Amino acid sequence: METVFFKMGTEETLDEKYVRKAGNCLKQGGLVAFPTETVYGLGADALNEKAAEKIYAAKGRPSDNPLIVHIADMASIEKIVRDFPEKARKLAKDFWPGPLTMILNKKEIVPKSTTGGLETVAVRMPDHPLALKVIKAAGGYVAAPSANTSGRPSPTLARHVLEDMNGKIDMILDGGEVGIGIESTIVDMSVEPPMILRPGYITEEMLEQSIGEVLTDPALLFLPEEKAPKAPGMKYKHYAPKGEMKIVEGSGGCVVEAINNFVANELENNKKVGIIATDETYSCYPKGLVKSIGSRSDDKTIARNLYAVLREFDEAGIESIYSESFQDGSMGQAIMNRLLKAASHNVIDAEQAELGGI
Ligand code: TXA
Ligand code: MG
Repeated sequence: METVFFKMGTEETLDEKYVRKAGNCLKQGGLVAFPTETVYGLGADALNEKAAEKIYAAKGRPSDNPLIVHIADMASIEKIVRDFPEKARKLAKDFWPGPLTMILNKKEIVPKSTTGGLETVAVRMPDHPLALKVIKAAGGYVAAPSANTSGRPSPTLARHVLEDMNGKIDMILDGGEVGIGIESTIVDMSVEPPMILRPGYITEEMLEQSIGEVLTDPALLFLPEEKAPKAPGMKYKHYAPKGEMKIVEGSGGCVVEAINNFVANELENNKKVGIIATDETYSCYPKGLVKSIGSRSDDKTIARNLYAVLREFDEAGIESIYSESFQDGSMGQAIMNRLLKAASHNVIDAEQAELGGI
């Protein structure tokens, strides 16, 4: 299959033409990738069983991992959910369009391939003008997982989508770099109190300010083998770069010193080593391929660059990656959740390493 790649934003009439083309393609059961405010999505008509099935094949995604249905206006919700509780309504009012996905009880019309056979459906209204236009042009319901090959970092640029999906999907709409860079917060509204299944830009505190008590899936706080997470997709090794990744924890100076020691060691063994640093520490690493992921004074920059940096290490053929750790800041939990998965929970204590323990 030839994948049409179109760069939006050069001429308005051309943009409109490609939105129409994308809409028609989706209506006919095709696959179209488009930007959202979080990451690029790989869209299919969410109410068309066969179309949604194609997503799993293109991504190499396990079929028990359900998709998120993207809508473009509030009126669309009624057709796909059995009930829309008061708290869900409040969250929609406060955070939609935006990086929040809600799990709700589904109606019959949502096919099995979209929900992986579950009785619930994940719904989100993205905050991106192009995404909203494409969803409308497609008839209102677009199932869209992140547009990466399963197990690879999510795409934050159209180029990343092309790398993974060229020849496998009908169309890619290039709308430039995404704003947030990590996937939406998922909150299960089919249980009481509601429960966060995936951390993201919208934090537990933000949700609690809107609707009161919200819990976090305990599995997010444990090692993957200790507890099965409630969002099926959270159990898979995800977001993985090709090199072996380790996260080094501890106080600032200690982390830098420990990473430099590890890097020296790897270089002696002729390994290609990468370092995930920050603007603040970038110049403290004299050896290895050093990349700043953003500034600790603004963790939104870290979220935005995370996946692109992992992909850049892949392109450079890096075999071993050492990353600083990021627990502080409002997005700290979401960032660490992705990093820990990329590192298969491989965490090193810098103080221990200093003592020669590792
Ligand atoms: O920001 C995002 O949410 C992006 C953009 C494209 O909108 N999409 C995205 O989709 O991240 P995906 O497929 O990569 O992640 C969907 C997650 C998976 O972990 C899946 O298991 C979970 O949502 N999920 C979907 N339906 C669910 C359901 N009914 N119950 C529990 N978890 C569900
Ligand atoms: Mg994904």
